[in-house]
Amino acid sequence: MSRLSSLTSSLLGSEILEIAADVRAMLAEGKDICNLTVGDFAPSEFRIPAQVERGIAERLRRGETNYPPPDGILPLREAVRTLYRRELGLDPSLASVIVTSGSRPGIYATYRGVVDPGDRVVYPTPSWNNPYYVQLVGARGVPVPVGAEDRFMPTRATLERAVRDARLLVLCSPQNPAGTTFTEESLGAICDLVLEENARRRAGERPLYVMYDQVYWTLTFGDVRHVHPMGVRPAMAPYTVYVDGVSKSLAATGLRVGWIMAPEDLAGPMSALIGHVGAWAPNAEQGAAADFLEDAAAFSAFRAEMTARVHERLDLLYDGLAAMRSDGLPVDVIAPEGTMYISARFALNGRVAADGSRLDSDESVRRYLLRSAGFAVVPLRAFGSDADTGWYRLSAGAVSPEQIRRVLPKLRDALRAAMW
Ligand SMILES: Cc1ncc(COP(=O)(O)O)c(C=O)c1O
Repeated sequence: MSRLSSLTSSLLGSEILEIAADVRAMLAEGKDICNLTVGDFAPSEFRIPAQVERGIAERLRRGETNYPPPDGILPLREAVRTLYRRELGLDPSLASVIVTSGSRPGIYATYRGVVDPGDRVVYPTPSWNNPYYVQLVGARGVPVPVGAEDRFMPTRATLERAVRDARLLVLCSPQNPAGTTFTEESLGAICDLVLEENARRRAGERPLYVMYDQVYWTLTFGDVRHVHPMGVRPAMAPYTVYVDGVSKSLAATGLRVGWIMAPEDLAGPMSALIGHVGAWAPNAEQGAAADFLEDAAAFSAFRAEMTARVHERLDLLYDGLAAMRSDGLPVDVIAPEGTMYISARFALNGRVAADGSRLDSDESVRRYLLRSAGFAVVPLRAFGSDADTGWYRLSAGAVSPEQIRRVLPKLRDALRAAMW
């Protein structure tokens, strides 16, 4: 019998973190690994803005080391309002913006805030971490498989049946893991579905909500423009919780500054929940982030440079893999639209590696590519799918362009060496 509660003893472990540990062990042995597994930025490649770094140090020196207000310091909540007005065409009230320690507590508070045990939570697969939150709140997860033909983004057609009587629909764009995005049209059609479902419900019946995770919204490439529910359908306001933060936009995953924008009647109680967990962002980090988000020129200069640097790495991967595809190697790849990720397919299942080992699953192919080419990637299967598809997530936040150039020929050799 476990000494733990049944929830804690049955919690699912993160497969992505297990793979990352595997890669770290090889790096520690001094192996030359191109680590495309982590959804994080290496400070050697991507620093937080210098202004934020200085701002935190100054605030700590001044003694800003006490409890922040539970819903966040006023300057940061105001800065989020300014940012959303300036960049996203939104006009949030102060009461709707709640600061959290990174985005995760906002996700947890959204699930906890609107989902009762047994409620249906709909999420596309692949997607990031939803099964864990579903388990934490005792919901009934309704995964909706989405394929490469849709660039791994859900559509109205794929969600149509699943949202019936559901409590929460979880959407993310630009999307982790696929690196693809909604268009105005595709998101608009999904919002129409949500609005129709809510119009169908009887008076007094609780609605279907949307959690819109847009932590990667600043990282879009080329002509791609970030779209969001209230931008495409203003009527989504009473049903939508936005999840956001500086982790990805400022390459600041360890600062732990995030926020939600929620309908006012949800925001207050969700803030109380976050307060009891103590998941506030530290005072000094909040203040420094607020100053930076208010500074339109500094924000857009940082965004432009960071986006260009992430895009450069993803383009190198895309071009390298597309060339292998043209040469007839068993590779496919989807052009990057946003985030720090790109999706690629290595169709080696059923082949035999040069060392005689049989490649019979996405996991065995992952280990083969790591072992033979130092090419470290995560199968999309780790993002909630229940079938091997041969598709993988490649993350460009912790590698230099040089490391990518170095690994591509080794990958080519490893693909050639895998025989029928
Ligand atoms: C889609 C998505 N949402 C939320 C998060 C969590 O962000 P944070 O580090 O701010 O908690 C991540 C982190 O990888 C993510 O990929």
